[in-house]
Order: sequence, then structure tokens, then C-alpha cells
Amino acid sequence: MTEPVLVCVAWPYASADIHVGNMTGSHLPADIVARYHRMRGRQVLMVSGSDSHGTPITVRADAENSTPPEVYQRFHHDFIDLFQKTGISYDCFTSTHTENHFDVAQKMFTVLKDNGFLYTDVQKQWYSPAQQRFLPDRYVEGTCYICGYESARSDQCDRCGNLLESEKLLDPRSKIDGSTPELRETEHFFLDLGKLEPEVIEFLKERESYWRPNVLRQSLGQIESNPLRGRAITRDLEWGIPVPLEGYDDKRLYVWFEAVMGYLSAAVEANALAGNQDGWRNWWTNPASKTFYFIGKDNIPFHAIIWPGELLGAGIDFDRLMGAEDPQPFVLPYDVPANEFMNMEGQKISGSRNWGVWVLDYIERYDPDPLRYYLTVSMPETRDTDWAWEDFYNRNNGELIATWGNLANRVLGFAHKRWEGIVPDPGELTEKDRDLLDTINGGFASVGQLIEEVKLRAALAEAMRLASEVNKYLDDTEPWKTFKTDKAAAARAIFTAMKAIDSLKVLFAPFLPFSSEKIHAFLNYERPLFGTPYTQAVADNLGSHTVLRYDAANASGEWKPSELTPGRTFQQPTPLFTKLDPSIVAEELARLGK
Ligand code: MF3
Ligand code: ZN
Repeated sequence: MTEPVLVCVAWPYASADIHVGNMTGSHLPADIVARYHRMRGRQVLMVSGSDSHGTPITVRADAENSTPPEVYQRFHHDFIDLFQKTGISYDCFTSTHTENHFDVAQKMFTVLKDNGFLYTDVQKQWYSPAQQRFLPDRYVEGTCYICGYESARSDQCDRCGNLLESEKLLDPRSKIDGSTPELRETEHFFLDLGKLEPEVIEFLKERESYWRPNVLRQSLGQIESNPLRGRAITRDLEWGIPVPLEGYDDKRLYVWFEAVMGYLSAAVEANALAGNQDGWRNWWTNPASKTFYFIGKDNIPFHAIIWPGELLGAGIDFDRLMGAEDPQPFVLPYDVPANEFMNMEGQKISGSRNWGVWVLDYIERYDPDPLRYYLTVSMPETRDTDWAWEDFYNRNNGELIATWGNLANRVLGFAHKRWEGIVPDPGELTEKDRDLLDTINGGFASVGQLIEEVKLRAALAEAMRLASEVNKYLDDTEPWKTFKTDKAAAARAIFTAMKAIDSLKVLFAPFLPFSSEKIHAFLNYERPLFGTPYTQAVADNLGSHTVLRYDAANASGEWKPSELTPGRTFQQPTPLFTKLDPSIVAEELARLGK
């Protein structure tokens, strides 16, 4: 059997529209990696879902005079629509508000408690005398006691990235009415991270050689300067997952404690929906499985410290509770390639200030592949990057179309016209032709290696470099000219270029699936490169939820060089991409209010 690959993507809060920063931060890099591994023949499971609990949802419901279920369902449906339109190919995009997720999260709680990694303690929590209730972390803002940032949330500072001890926040204020909260005592369950620390450090050290420096800094680096301490994993709330014990009716599991468990519960759900109750183990307890976590930098401590801690604390006992005869421990994260942030025209993207590009809005005016192209070349892999419309326009017309779109259209169009839709017979290839094809074929190793290491900007740059090689080859061989003087030479060059394009189509496919499918169809391949997304309604005792899934049955894409042969028929191509008018730059800036 081939290697299982679990592609985990940060669960978006079902309370805010997805913008280009979210796309380039997590969904898109995950999709590129998933598509690549599928073409390598690996058993890919790409999972995420709507993070339906927590205060972001209740804050929004309060503000809209609506209810948490109404809010998360509306956003959940928009997310699924967006992923289908942009080709984010989830095997299972579900929600945390499902019977299955409740069950998995409550089992994890029980196992961690039985294994001695949970304890209760009385904690001081911000209480609003005005509202007569405890305020969840996100309802309280104040000044970070570590770096002095004035708009820190009480549980985490967005400037220095540190997790905060809520009661140490300086100058606290309620986000609901601006009033000053006071500290009151309440009893909670705590995850004993101090006890788990040695194992978490060992886990991180084993990955030190290949993890991104920013991720190591915010995990291993943090722990070394600031030893781990217990963290409260319950909250005084009504909305969320009940604590599976008597006497805790007015408490819920902390959203972060349970949301990360979604990677596990979604794998359980995906396999159960496919009729295989035990299938999740292939990704979760099989030592051959590789697990990737695509997240933004604000999520690093939860994925590189707390989630591995939860997995280590559960040991083999979750598997035991799920009925295994020979229970196995969990597979720990292989890579957590967290991205930095993408800004918009030099300023932080902000929903409340309506400063950003919202993907469902973008897709009403433009195609998905130019978005995917631009978001990959400007992916914030090592530093914050910026979306600028001028840059988007230039990259579309001056790179994507000039280097790749025109190449494919020009060659296929010319070939179709001159050889009447039949791939020309090249006779014997010259050294120059073979050199080009060798160069392109080398891309399967070089681009592939870069994707495995999640260096996606470099991977796409390498594919583009290879496309430029074909352009150079055509500048030298000039088949459009030799067609009149030496038809055999023209046939050789066109055949060679067509074969190169057929290979490039595969190398570009993880990044630009829509245009690669087009080329694939022009060349009359019967089955598409990739499978088909579809939605499914799943009913359970919490109601009904829609799951986005992926049907791989018809997919034929393989990560290997073209086997195009002479004599094959093909279609007259239509343009792969749309050339943008320069006026879109001013138009889009006006939309932003600039
Ligand atoms: N919804 C949270 C966020 O967007 C958490 C995402 S990751 C999860 O920051 F695994 F915890 F869900
Ligand atoms: Zn700070």
C-alpha cells in the first residue's frame, strides 16, 4: 500500500468571510500539497471544517440578533461554495458542531483525564458586573504584559504571538460594552502541559532539522524561555461541547481544546461516510502516515505544542476506547508549515474595516487560477507579504499569460491549424529536442522535492522556469517560420513543444488545476487529472450538516512525464487565461475606498 498523507487545515471560524490572506495562509498551500501527493499515488486525506464554537460565533450572533447555529450554518455553506469555486479539494470539510466531533472530543477529554493529564483548579476569570456573567477570553481586550501591545486579546497577543495568562492582562476592557471587568473565581479543568513538557520537547527536537524557523521559534524557543504550565480547557459558556461529567452543566470545553481534535474527528467521519469505521487509523495510528498542518502564524502554539501534547497525553488509550484490540499511539505532526500574514495594499487585512479581498467576491469577477497563481508567488512563507492589485495585474498578464498561457495556446493553436488536429510525427528527435525534454522531465524531481518540503513559492518558480525553457526553445527553432521552408523541422519542434506542454500541465496542476484540466481536455485525454468535489448532507442527533467531499474515482493525473504520441487527435484550444485590462487596478482600489 502507498503512504498515507493527512493534510490538515486550520478550521476557519464560522463567523467571518474567507479572504485572500486565509487562502494563501492555509487552504491553498494545503490544496497544492494534497493534489501533488494524490498524483504521486499516495492515500491523501485532506480535512478541515467550520470551527463552529467559541466566542467569535457567539459575538457575531449577539451582534446580529441571531443564534450561534444560524451563524455557523450560514458561514459553513459559504465556505463550501468558496472551496468548490476555487478548487480547494477537501476530502472532508465538516463542522465541529456534529455528533461525531462531540463524541471524539469527549472521548479525548476522558482519556486525558484518566491518564492523569487533567486537573481542576480555581481560576480567576474576567467577570462583567454590568452583564452579570463571566466574559470569555475574546470578549476581553487589553494591553499585553509581555510586549505592551494595546489591543491584545486576553488569551493571546497578536503582536508578539505569545499565549497570555488572561488574568495578567493590563488595562482590561469588555469588547461588548467597553466596561471594565473584574476578576472572580471559577473552577475549571486544566491540561497539565507541565507534565507533558518533556515529551513535547522531545517531539519538537526530532523535527528541529526541517521545520520552519518561525515555527520552531514559537514552539521550542518559547518553551525554553518560558516553561509550560497548565492551561484551562473549560469555560463558563452555554455554546459548545459539554464536559462529559456530572455537575458541569454550565461549562463547555474550551474551543481551542476541542477544535484541534477536528483533524482526528474529521478523519473518523470521512472514513465512516465511506463505509469504513476503522479507516481513520490508516492516517492516525499507522506509523507510515505523514501528517501536515497548514495554519497561520497566530495558530502555532496550538498546533506545535498543545495539540501534540494532547496526542501524547492520550497515548494508546483513545485507540483503546475506540475498540482497538491492539491499541496504538497517535501519529504526531510531521510538519507544521505555518505561514506569516498577507497584508492588503500595505495595511493589515481587516473584516471590521472592510479592508481586504474576500474570495467569494473576487470570484464573481475573475477566474480561480490567476488567484491561485498570485497567492502562490506571494505566499507569506518566510515573511509577511502584500496583496497589491497592480502586482496582481502585472503577474497575470506579464507572467502567467506571457510565460505559460501564451506558450500553451500558441503551440496548440498552431499545431491544430497546420496539422489539422493531429499530433505531428516528429521523425527522429535531435539532441536539442531531447535536451529540452530532459530538462522538463527533470522538473518531476525538482518541483516534486520542493512541494514535499512545502517550499511552494520555489516550486512554482521552478515550474515557470521550465516553461521559459520551452519559450527559448521555440525562439530558437521558430516552427512558425520553418513550417514554410522545412515542414519536417517544424513538425519536430511542434511535437517536442507539445510534449513539453503536456508535461508542464502536470507540473502546474497542483497550483493551477483548472487550466491544467483544460489542456488535458484539449489533448483528448478521457479522464480528468483530478476527482470531483461533491456535497453530502449528514443527519445526526444535533441536526444536519453538509460535508464537502472529494470523489477520486475518475482521477487519472500521475506525476510523471508526458507519453504523448504522434497521430493522436486533439482539440482546437481556447485561451487558458483572460488578459486583464489595466483599468481593473483603479477599479479595485476604488472598491477598497482608495
Ligand atoms: N478557528 C481558529 C482560527 O481560525 C482555530 C483554527 S485551527 C483548529 O484561528 F484546529 F483549532 F481548529
Ligand atoms: Zn504581546
